[in-house]
Amino acid sequence: MVHNTLPNGKSATANRTRLCKVDDVVEGNPVAVNVPGVQPLAAYRVGDEYFVTDNVCTHAYSLLTDGFQDGEMIECEVHGGTFDIRTGSATGFPCRTPLKTFDVVVADGWISVISPDSDDQ
Ligand code: FES
Repeated sequence: MVHNTLPNGKSATANRTRLCKVDDVVEGNPVAVNVPGVQPLAAYRVGDEYFVTDNVCTHAYSLLTDGFQDGEMIECEVHGGTFDIRTGSATGFPCRTPLKTFDVVVADGWISVISPDSDDQ
C-alpha cells in the first residue's frame, strides 16, 4: 500500500478508487471511465501529468471524451464549449458551470482518484 499525502493534505490511501491504467491515457485522447456507482469520469494526460474530471459537459448532456483535447483544454463536441482540464473551469461559451475535478493518485501503473462519489469537493 502506498502512503502519499496530496497537496491538499488528504491521505492518498483514503477512499481511493482505481480507474484505469496509466498507459491507456494518451495526451489528446482522454479515456472515459465508468465505475459502478460513480458518475462517468474522464481521465486525461497533459504533459507528464494526469487529471480526472466529470465526463459529462455542464452545458447539456455530452461526454467530453467524445470531444477534442488540446493541451490542458477540452472542447465539447456538441456546442464547442471548453473547459480547463487542470481546474475544471469553464473557459469557452456556452459553458458557464465548472466541471468537477478529482485528486489523482498515480501508483503501480494505475490512475486512481480520491472519493469520486463524494460531493464535498
Ligand atoms: S453540450 Fe457541451 S457545450 Fe453544449
